[in-house]
Amino acid sequence: MTRRAVVTGVGHYLPERVVPNAEFEATLDTTDEWIRSRSGIERRHFAAEGEGTSDLATKAAQAALKDAGIEIDSVDAIILATSTADLTFPSAATMVQAALGMTRGFAFDVQAVCAGFVYALANANALIASGQCDRILVIGAETFSRIMDWTDRSTCVLFGDGAGALILEAKEGQGTSDDRGILSVDLHSDGRYRDLLYVDGGVSTKTTGYLRMQGNQVFRHAVEKLAATAEAALDKASLTSSDVDWIVPHQANIRIIQGTAKKMALPMSQVVVTVQDHGNTSAASIPLAMSVGKQRGQIKEGDLLVTEAIGGGLAWGAVVLRW
Ligand code: COA
Repeated sequence: MTRRAVVTGVGHYLPERVVPNAEFEATLDTTDEWIRSRSGIERRHFAAEGEGTSDLATKAAQAALKDAGIEIDSVDAIILATSTADLTFPSAATMVQAALGMTRGFAFDVQAVCAGFVYALANANALIASGQCDRILVIGAETFSRIMDWTDRSTCVLFGDGAGALILEAKEGQGTSDDRGILSVDLHSDGRYRDLLYVDGGVSTKTTGYLRMQGNQVFRHAVEKLAATAEAALDKASLTSSDVDWIVPHQANIRIIQGTAKKMALPMSQVVVTVQDHGNTSAASIPLAMSVGKQRGQIKEGDLLVTEAIGGGLAWGAVVLRW
């Protein structure tokens, strides 16, 4: 028998304010048509004044706990993937812990930018497989609107705010690829690519800074590395792309999503796409897509999912899981 980390609940939260592309036409030399055709994005949500990443994360977590039908004190750990924590410290995860009324266990943030949720799943899987935890709340939450340079049309139209959450629970499997739960993980980073995507501020500069990106360079790395990591993860689980029911990709750009699916020889009808409604919500995009995909009736129990992401670092990776 093999201990598997199985998804038993999922939920998400999006801030109330929806910003359509057309809103940027008033302040920037851009058009709805340019944003739509180059990125696939039609609208995104922005957090309200005073609404922090931990607030979005808490609401997504509450939805996932409700979906799983469990109380917070039955959870052993909270792992929160974010690059936009409310404060330098404490971690946003401990703020969520307090907000949920969790009086036991432990909580920490994972920072791997847009690959954050994949890294968080890898951590949760390791804690469950090793027997240290039985139940983990894994959240991706971001307020990238706070690190946008609103005068830079090549970045500020691409990102949005939001949060998604999963409950992962230890269950015994047969140790085969027919098991439910996380079946394999493939992680990478290469710090030599720092200048392609970074924030030009932080503690040692005593500023928050703004996101800076060489979009076309990131694009090139994305298509090549995402298909490779997804295939490597499938290989580790003794599976191939023909076994996959759904790709749940990081939602950065529809052209990256299409390019990756094509390289994997899978049709777009097997890809969960939410980028048109959310923009790029960094570490939140994958759990948001999982939650919306389940709500739409796309993702069902027993389906084989491969989820992949790349972001600043560069950091990238993939997880194969049976829902
Ligand atoms: N509106 C209108 N024109 C814009 C624009 C906007 N919002 N943003 C950039 N442009 C212009 C550029 O200034 C450039 O003009 P120039 O040729 O006069 O210099 C032109 O559009 C082409 O820019 P380029 O960056 O080559 O376009 P692109 O086809 O690569 O698309 C991105 C730009 C950013 C949409 C695309 O590169 C991308 O999505 N990259 C990946 C980004 C990403 O997903 N990052 C996150 C990964 S986690």
